[in-house]
Amino acid sequence: MSQKLFKKERDPSILILDFGSQYSELIARRIRETNVFSLVVSNSITIKEIQSINPEGIILSGGPNSVYEKNAPNCDKQIFNLGIPVLGICYGMQLMVKELGGSVTAAIKKAEYGRAPINIDLKNTLLAEVKDQSIMWMSHGDSIDKLPNGFYKIAHTENTIHAAIANETKNLFGVQFHPEVIHSEFGMTVIKNFVYSISKCVPDWTTETFLEETIPMIKEQVGDKKVLLALSGGVDSSTLAFLLNRAIGDQLTCMFIDQGFMRKGEPEFLMDFFDKKFHIKVEYINARERFIKKLKEITDPEEKRKIIGGEFIKVFEEESNRLGPFQYLAQGTLYPDVIESAGTNIDPKTGDRIAVKIKSHHNVGGLPKDLQFKLVEPLRKLFKDEVRQLGKVLGLPDEIIKRHPFPGPGLAIRILGEVTHEKLNCLRDADWIVRDEIKKSGLYNDIWQAFAVLLPVKTVGVMGDKRTYSWPIVLRCVSSEDGMTADWSKIPYEILEKISNRIVNEVTQVNRVVFDITSKPPGTIEWE
Ligand code: XMP
Repeated sequence: MSQKLFKKERDPSILILDFGSQYSELIARRIRETNVFSLVVSNSITIKEIQSINPEGIILSGGPNSVYEKNAPNCDKQIFNLGIPVLGICYGMQLMVKELGGSVTAAIKKAEYGRAPINIDLKNTLLAEVKDQSIMWMSHGDSIDKLPNGFYKIAHTENTIHAAIANETKNLFGVQFHPEVIHSEFGMTVIKNFVYSISKCVPDWTTETFLEETIPMIKEQVGDKKVLLALSGGVDSSTLAFLLNRAIGDQLTCMFIDQGFMRKGEPEFLMDFFDKKFHIKVEYINARERFIKKLKEITDPEEKRKIIGGEFIKVFEEESNRLGPFQYLAQGTLYPDVIESAGTNIDPKTGDRIAVKIKSHHNVGGLPKDLQFKLVEPLRKLFKDEVRQLGKVLGLPDEIIKRHPFPGPGLAIRILGEVTHEKLNCLRDADWIVRDEIKKSGLYNDIWQAFAVLLPVKTVGVMGDKRTYSWPIVLRCVSSEDGMTADWSKIPYEILEKISNRIVNEVTQVNRVVFDITSKPPGTIEWE
C-alpha cells in the first residue's frame, strides 16, 4: 500500500486495486487527466486501510488471470458493501461477479481481442454520452455467464453478452472493455462518468493545488537544513530544482557533474540558465578528464556503464563532502518508479506477486541507497506528463521540458568501442546537426528520440577529387510511448537528405550516413 510521508499528504479520490494488469498505471493516468487524484494500490489492501483513505470511488483493474484459477488474485469481499462506488474493469468485473454470486466461464471460442463495436442496451449513468456502436478495446478470454442478483446488462458486443453491467442501487459497475486504452473511442467518457457522475469527485488535482500542498510539506520536512540535488539537465531534476528553489531558496545547492559526455552546448546552456538567469545555486564540477581516462581501452557497453556509474558516485561523494555538510538529498523519483518497486504484478502461472524488473543499466547515474542523507522526493506521486506540466508552470523553457530522453552515460554509449576525444567531438557535431534539422522540420515533438551514433569502422568515400577513409554515422530516430517498445520514425526523404548532406559536409571525419530502420524489439533504442 502506498505510504503517506506526511499527515497532510493528499489521499486519492479514486483508489485503483491492481490485479496485475499492464494497464493499471494507465488507469491512474487517465483519471488524473480528469483532474482527480488517483493511486494504484495492491489488491491485498485491507478494508481498514480503504476506510482510512475513504476514497470517493474504487476501480478494480484488469489482470492476466482467470478468476477460477488456483491462487487467482482476490480482494476483500466487503469492498462491495462499503457504500463506495466500484467499477470493475475486465478481470475486476469478473471478480466482482464471482464474489457476488454470479458465474464466469472460459469463452474459448469467443475470446475477443482488439477493437469491438458496442451495442448499448441501457443508457445509464456509466454510459451516458457514449455513442451506440462506438469502438471499445477488448482483451479477454473469459466471459460472464450469469449475473449476480441486482445486476443487469447495459451493453453487449457481437461476442460478449455482458460487455457492461450495473447494479445502480449499490453503485457497482463493470465493463469488459478497457476504457483506459486510447483505442476505446468513448473510453474517457466512461471514465468521466464514473469519476464525476457516479463517484461525485471534484476536479481539484491541478498543478496549482499540487504546488499549494507540496511547498509547505517540503518546508516542514527540511526545516532549516541544507539540501543537495544532482542536476542532470533532464526534465525531472530541472523541475525539482525549480520546485525546491521556490520552497527553500538558498538552502538548496545543485551539483552539476560534467562527465564530458553531454551534447554540444548543453553544459553551458544549463549553467547559464540556472545559475545566471534564475540565480539557482549550481556548483559546476568539471570531471571530463577523469571520466574519459577511466574509459581508456574500454569497449564493452556494460563495462562502460559500470565505470561511468561508479565514477559518478565517487565524484558526487567527494564534492558533497567538500561543499557540505548536507542533511538532505533531493531526488527526482517519479510515481512509476514507486509503483514498479512496489512489485504489484502477479505471476500468471503461479499467482505469486512478482516485482517488475527495471533494467539495471537504466539506473546508471543514480546514487547508491546507503549515502548518509535523508531523502526529499516531492515528485514521487507524479507521472512524467505531470512533471512536465509542473515544470512549465514553474517557468522552465521548452528546451528542457520537451527535451528527448538522454541516457545517463551520454554520448559514451553512442560511440561504439573505445571513447576518445576525437570521436566525442565528431559525434557531438553530428548530433548537433541531427537535432537542428529535426527541430527545423517541426518533427522534434513527435519523435521520442533522434540522435547520431558513431561506428568505429572506416568506410571509403570520395569528396572532390579525393578519396576519403572515415567513420560512418548512424541516424537513429524512434517513436515510442515509454521507451519500452519503439518504432523507427518514417522521416521524409528530403529531411534525411538534408541531415546526411550536412553531416558529411560539415563534420570532417565522417564520409557516410546510414539510417537505422530497426524497431524495438528486436533492436534496442541505443546501439550499446
Ligand atoms: P534501450 O536502448 O534499452 O533504451 O532501448 C530505452 C531507453 O532508455 C535509455 N537508456 C538509458 N538511460 N542510462 C540511462 O539513463 C542508460 O544506461 C541507458 N541506456 C538506455 C534510452 O536512451 C531510451 O530512452
